[in-house]
Amino acid sequence: MSDLAIIGGTGLTTLNGLNIARREMRRTPYGEPSAPFIHGDFCGTEVVFLARHGSGHTIPPHRVNYQANLWALQDMGVRRVIAVAAVGGIRADMVPGRIAFPDQIIDYTYGRAQTFFEDDLSNVTHIDFTEPYCGELRGHLIQVARDLDLQAVEDGTYGATQGPRLETAAEINRLERDGCDLVGMTGMPEAALARELGLCYCACSVVANWAAGRGTGPISLESIDANLKNGMARVRTLLERALPAM
Ligand code: HPA
Repeated sequence: MSDLAIIGGTGLTTLNGLNIARREMRRTPYGEPSAPFIHGDFCGTEVVFLARHGSGHTIPPHRVNYQANLWALQDMGVRRVIAVAAVGGIRADMVPGRIAFPDQIIDYTYGRAQTFFEDDLSNVTHIDFTEPYCGELRGHLIQVARDLDLQAVEDGTYGATQGPRLETAAEINRLERDGCDLVGMTGMPEAALARELGLCYCACSVVANWAAGRGTGPISLESIDANLKNGMARVRTLLERALPAM
């Protein structure tokens, strides 16, 4: 049984190169996870893969059952999670196609089940979230990205928006004033729930587009697809090297 999971987002609904050993359906006290968990071997390393938006990419960001996904992973013995997700680039170095490893989060989402610490508590519980991502896992991925000369962006504040629509240019200006460098729709509450469960979790973001108002003209789905194709190829290269070395 692997203790390492990869959650794949838009552009990564399947992990090419994963030799699949079995598919596992799970029920949880929080409902159904997004998809069956795919257990297998990726370049000699056992991993569990989960498609965040469902196998057919049909679950929008605000409808993802983050609680069920993370609870099931923890319940099956996973301790480390690499969360791959598409984002929009705000800061000038967040160039479409690049990988970025954010180190901070600002949460703008609402109406999502954002905690396990709600009912039947013996004590009110507050987790420390000063550093939202697992430093060890982040550091390892950054080092491998350097070794491979992937020109990944090694820091940044992730603004988590509600979606599913993209933002207005004014909203992106506001996010930038707040200190956000990249913007995505799935980073929260996923990271916080992972911390509540004691999982070592880090984000591997793939810049799919310039955020609203940062590129020229409207954001086209075709260009997002093209950038994600490039970016996810880089993610695969990264994982091929990073996983065996973990
Ligand atoms: N905004 C929010 N989420 C995203 C974007 C964006 O521009 N691109 C990919 N995910």
